[in-house]
Amino acid sequence: MSLADSLAVLAYLVAAVLFILSLRGLSSQETARRGNVYGIIGMAIAIVATLSIKGPDPSAWLIASIGIGAAIGGVMAARVGMTQMPELVALLHSFVGMAAVLVGYSIQLAAAKHAGLAEAASGANLPLKMLIEVYIDVVIGAITLTGSVLAFLKLRGSVSGRPTLLPARHWLNLGMLTAIIVFAVLYARGGQTWALAGGTAVACVLGVHLVAAIGGADMPVVVSMLNSYSGWTASAAGFMLGNDLLIITGALVGSSGAILSYIMCRAMNRSIWNVIFGGFGAEAPKGAPGAQPAGEVADIDHATLAGKLIEAKQVVIVPGYGMAVARAQHAVRELTELLRARGVNVRFAIHPVAGRLPGHMNVLLAEASVPYDIVLEMDEINADLPATDAVIVIGANDIVNPGAEDDPGSPIYGMPVLQVWKSKLVVVNKRSRAAGYAGVDNPLFYKPVTRMLFGDAKDAVEKVVAALRAA
Ligand code: TAP
Repeated sequence: MSLADSLAVLAYLVAAVLFILSLRGLSSQETARRGNVYGIIGMAIAIVATLSIKGPDPSAWLIASIGIGAAIGGVMAARVGMTQMPELVALLHSFVGMAAVLVGYSIQLAAAKHAGLAEAASGANLPLKMLIEVYIDVVIGAITLTGSVLAFLKLRGSVSGRPTLLPARHWLNLGMLTAIIVFAVLYARGGQTWALAGGTAVACVLGVHLVAAIGGADMPVVVSMLNSYSGWTASAAGFMLGNDLLIITGALVGSSGAILSYIMCRAMNRSIWNVIFGGFGAEAPKGAPGAQPAGEVADIDHATLAGKLIEAKQVVIVPGYGMAVARAQHAVRELTELLRARGVNVRFAIHPVAGRLPGHMNVLLAEASVPYDIVLEMDEINADLPATDAVIVIGANDIVNPGAEDDPGSPIYGMPVLQVWKSKLVVVNKRSRAAGYAGVDNPLFYKPVTRMLFGDAKDAVEKVVAALRAA
């Protein structure tokens, strides 16, 4: 091994440690920035080390494409809004899938060319181990590629978010899986490109079929699953290319994506298998959008609410997806500061699946400089809600739906929720009585303890802030 190669191995080790530290950092808000920096440094080291292994003079087009890619990525990251994050992530996963497919084919075609059998398109001179690695890499990559493109289009709204459920879809999945195995056996025996292409084509259809069957509410879990697939693809590519760092990084992404999917499923009381094989949201849920909610609601105006908040000792704020849409987090921070200045104990209650991506609310509140120590998880604050004078629900719906606890017919029955109705007063801010993401009516709106503050979250909170200042 040359000195350059030894240094590159050392650099890989350092990069792998930095990636692990990065994941560790990302697991809490206080350390997330540092985690990101570790990840960036690790990736920079990995790229330089990889280029140095390939030789001291990487061709100009390689450098140029890295530069162009980095520029496009930078602009996209700077422009993307928080609510568009899941679709951007889905798109990026499709690139990982595409890269895996292309790398697999380049190895196959190079081997076929080397064997001088381009006409017969044979890669027979590849050892069996390599054939297996290429096949696994290409198949998982193809599923990730087409699944992620469809997930991107669904999240973007270009394709309907409704699940497409073909008759006998589970048999179709099984049939496609069998076909992939048959092509794998054929490919392993002869190393022919047509067998690899057959497996790739079936995998592409399987990726579309798996994601098409999944309804809108489960899309974030799907994105996280695709994240996991993209990690395993990278790991398979690492074996194929003999690149240890790619194996480690892929395994880190693959396992963290799988764990995250599991956590999200548990928080929503969904079975992971049911999400993977689709079909959620297929049955029209009771009280689906369009169905008129039952009961009368009582309103509250901004000035009255401000008065109630001044009198309160304990206030809990429950942010949800609507706060993200309205970008109301800065107004919410202002409200918090004003109340705290008057001696009111204000805390935030964060549901594990509030918003549309893990940690969505934590990120927004951190961005608005809300102190971390008053932001509590659902399990930490639920027991305190009965002793709370006022709960303000800002653009949240499903995560405060009592039907999840007491209506066995509700599609979200069994999902743990924030028991805001147990407090002395609940004020729900949203624009209308419309259902949340799960499409179910919310009995919270009709409880005697509840008052509705209709309107856009930013506008409504700013008016309460103005009323507080005037009081
Ligand atoms: P939702 O149940 O989706 O409710 C959000 C509410 O915000 C809507 O009912 C909407 O009502 C209101 N809203 C929208 N724009 C608003 C605005 N500008 N101002 C004020 N209100 C506005 O959100 P949630 O309570 O945060 O629950 C999250 C949902 O997403 C759950 O069903 C969860 O299972 C699902 N989900 C989340 C995740 C993750 S990881 N977070 C993953 C998978 C699924 P109006 O239209 O009447 O205003």
